Amino acid sequence: MDRRLAAVLIAELEPTVARLLDRHLAQAKEWFPHQLVPWGRGQDFEPGWEWSPDEAAPPVAVRSSLFVNLLTEDNLPYYFRTIEAMFGRDSAWGAWSRRWTAEEGRHSIVIRDYLTVTRQIDPVALERARMAQVTCGQVPEPDLPHDGLVYVTLQELATRIAHHNTGKLLDDRVGYEVMKRVAADENRHHLFYRDATAAAVELDPSGMVLAIERQVRCFEMPGTGIVDFEHHARAIARAGIYDFQIHHDQILAPVVLRYWGVEQLTGLTDEAERARDALLSRIARIGRAGRRLARHRDHGGEPELVGQSA
Ligand SMILES: [Fe+2]
Ligand SMILES: [Fe+2]
Repeated sequence: MDRRLAAVLIAELEPTVARLLDRHLAQAKEWFPHQLVPWGRGQDFEPGWEWSPDEAAPPVAVRSSLFVNLLTEDNLPYYFRTIEAMFGRDSAWGAWSRRWTAEEGRHSIVIRDYLTVTRQIDPVALERARMAQVTCGQVPEPDLPHDGLVYVTLQELATRIAHHNTGKLLDDRVGYEVMKRVAADENRHHLFYRDATAAAVELDPSGMVLAIERQVRCFEMPGTGIVDFEHHARAIARAGIYDFQIHHDQILAPVVLRYWGVEQLTGLTDEAERARDALLSRIARIGRAGRRLARHRDHGGEPELVGQSA
């Protein structure tokens, strides 16, 4: 598929994107990070102060999840760069990507303020990791808007689930509200992309099936450029915050199979038919692996990570 076909898809989708942006704006509720942060629990950091895990003790996996989730939000400049390059800066696409960027900016503000006040993560380690992450600037960069749409749909939903599950494990009502608020934003981002992708599937079913197959095959949770990412991702999977079973039951089955209706599409090219067969068997395999690994984990085994097998 060449660049020209990618430009055609972008142009044909523009009216849908304009409609989805209007829907998004109509449903958006203004919110303020400072109102969610428990400032009264905070105090000055005295010179020479060093963090210790006794400061506040969320389970280690929850700390890993907060660390990865926040650093992913911090990488926003590069997500913006990729999205703007892929979808363009003009028309409704550009208006969407700028609005999305403004909303995403609030996520790192509120999570960092909450973590700084409650001292749940070493602020020195966190800042050094942020510097390393943003200096490296690594984010997925799909070649085509077809792939980009699929990736961001899956990624926004995965992020929503990870934020929400992290909040539930925090054992702090205020922290739960912070993560729930961020998760609600991610859900609205997901709905925008899910419906834009559904429109793209109608416009170019074969091109989109090829893209869905590629993206499901290669999907990784965001954050692969983060220091010790794999160590943190294993802790996150072990705690059931994000794992294969969730990936299958809450993302692939409801979105790819049911909402986009990949199984029911007709008129596909031979290549797209083959990609669909491969996609459907991969999703079934991920479902079986998810159930097996969840049982394995319940018996104390090491988790495998989404993107590493199945
Ligand atoms: Fe976010
Ligand atoms: Fe988002």
